[in-house]
Amino acid sequence: MDTFLQQIPKAELHIHIEGSLEPETMFALAKRNGIELAYKSVQEVRDAYNFQNLQSFLDLYYAGMSVLQTQQDFYDLTWAYLQKAAAENVRHTEIFFDPQAHTSRGIEFATVHTGIHQALQDAKEKLGISAYLILCFLRHLSAESAMATLEQALPYKDTIVAVGLDSSEMGNPPSKFQRVFDRAREAGFYTVAHAGEEGPPEYIWEAIKLLNVSRIDHGVRCVEDTQLVKYLIEQQIPLTVCPLSNIKLCVFDALEKHNIKQLLHMGLCVTVNSDDPAYFGGYVAENLQQTQQALGLSQQDIYQMMKNSFQATFLNPEEKQARI
Ligand code: HPA
Ligand code: ZN
Repeated sequence: MDTFLQQIPKAELHIHIEGSLEPETMFALAKRNGIELAYKSVQEVRDAYNFQNLQSFLDLYYAGMSVLQTQQDFYDLTWAYLQKAAAENVRHTEIFFDPQAHTSRGIEFATVHTGIHQALQDAKEKLGISAYLILCFLRHLSAESAMATLEQALPYKDTIVAVGLDSSEMGNPPSKFQRVFDRAREAGFYTVAHAGEEGPPEYIWEAIKLLNVSRIDHGVRCVEDTQLVKYLIEQQIPLTVCPLSNIKLCVFDALEKHNIKQLLHMGLCVTVNSDDPAYFGGYVAENLQQTQQALGLSQQDIYQMMKNSFQATFLNPEEKQARI
């Protein structure tokens, strides 16, 4: 089973590139950029990764990324992730980035984008992995700030496939960003949104009905609304589920209690992803391995989820087929 899980072709659809910043890299970049970290050692950083909820993680996530300063830093971060993904036979990945978390500290949008984008281009050539970029708006910030960020992204439209919504979910419903997402779709972006991770099923409905999303990121709280579950099945709207993240952020008490198998067997288009692998204890293969073990998933279950993940990409039909 372990070899099967390592070797099966994968697509990853929910990975925040800033969440792939390993503590070792955090220290190396801090040194390179002359930044003082609040931690004395890599071990101290890892020891701090004990989260009570989404917000307690986000506080460390935003603090950690302060070491990212130059185009080269963003390149190195992205390249490191792509190497790991390729080694796990990820054939295609759709990567979130959070420009506002950088522009708010004086780093230019172009610095962030160019560094990440160049790594994606090199990966296609040198690692044989294809990658798309998804710009995420930070939902704890205003709709005006999101709109300004969208305007900044327009010159890079050809290299960004979609826009998404992340950060603190409770109290920041999708409806807050309806106009921004309207504008993004007019400009030709696909849309996705985090919803139903900590937030209620109504946020998932809003993401679908008001933001016209192609996928729901997380979405595990959909089970609380029977009509919603029925709709997600009928429409085959994909959920990008992140099992280890859900455990680390206390969405479920234990992997054995996760609802991913239930969702899959009900016929939802479920996929498995790593979210913030450096913070949550593993990349996509580790997520698959631990979830398979905890829930006793069959090879058929795994195969179905991998098929779902390719089906749920923004690749065109021929490209999808070529990667499976
Ligand atoms: N949820 C919301 N925002 C995030 C996450 C997440 O899981 N990871 C990084 N930003
Ligand atoms: Zn996420």
